[in-house]
Amino acid sequence: MTRDAVAIGRRIRAWAPGRVNLIGDHTDYTGGLAFPMAIELGTRVIGVRGGDRVQLRSGAEPEPVDLPLHLPDPTVVEPAWGRYVAGVINEVAPATGFTGSVSTTLPVGAGLSSSAALELAVALALGFDGSPLELAQRCQAAEQRASGVPCGILDQLASANGVVGHGLLLDCTSLAITPIPIPDDVEVFVLNPGEPRRLLGSAYAERRAACEAAAALVGPLRHATLAAVESLDDDVLRRRARHVVTENARVLAFAEALRNDDLVTAGEAMWASHASLRDDFEVSTPALDALVASLRETPGVYGARLTGAGFGGCVVALARPGAIPWSSPVDASGPARLEAS
Ligand code: GLA
Repeated sequence: MTRDAVAIGRRIRAWAPGRVNLIGDHTDYTGGLAFPMAIELGTRVIGVRGGDRVQLRSGAEPEPVDLPLHLPDPTVVEPAWGRYVAGVINEVAPATGFTGSVSTTLPVGAGLSSSAALELAVALALGFDGSPLELAQRCQAAEQRASGVPCGILDQLASANGVVGHGLLLDCTSLAITPIPIPDDVEVFVLNPGEPRRLLGSAYAERRAACEAAAALVGPLRHATLAAVESLDDDVLRRRARHVVTENARVLAFAEALRNDDLVTAGEAMWASHASLRDDFEVSTPALDALVASLRETPGVYGARLTGAGFGGCVVALARPGAIPWSSPVDASGPARLEAS
């Protein structure tokens, strides 16, 4: 595309938030419950539609992406960040190309869904036209195609459906979303111990497979009783399924506690969630455990837990304003959207 064409085309601005999951991890792909919050850190795509290639530069990446509108296999695209763009092109099948730039305020690879934010912003920039649920579903499929990881729909649903000042109770069976206000007298903190995430793809797939193996024995985990799960012979399957069943219950208890402004009960659910992810689901790390343990000793912190897939990434904490003075709170944002330009 020539400079003139860029100058005369209508400028598109699309923005999508990352998310922090307050509670309910490794439940989405079993049809379970989760409680994420879209955050004000996010990814913006600015540019012009036209031509027959998608060309994007990113301030966070040395190499630009330059892709045709028809590509068979996103997993072989270089540079690697272009795989997410390629996955979105495959899913959205845009009528025209796009030339522009990507900028983000999200730390990449910290477990705050930087890839989902990129997917949603690119999809909207390329002209995706559908409901927030369809946007989330297309982008989940794009993520799976791009990364080969059988991720659930948590990240994309949160980014597509954010509500200012609210967390989102997600039911990953019915795909119902219930926004619940974050009480005024509490702040959400995201703390990053800064360790690189390891083994994420293969270990994630293995955890999902274990949940499916358990479900084949006791029925869908969303409806399985704790007693049924405790009767599983295989120790690993039993612990993985126990995490899912108890985590679903904790999500409900957390949502109810927030509604009642009962921050102590909400915090208890978070500490218990971390213990379950550490001991039964085995996705924590020593650095995440140490951070959660030190927050437990910090006055004014109601609860904290690892957030997202684990194997590294961040801790989320619910605390009295100012209780964690070395960190800034994050606010709940609105949804992914096209912005006026
Ligand atoms: C990643 C996946 C989500 C979800 C979380 C764990 O963020 O993309 O679908 O499974 O891990 O809750």
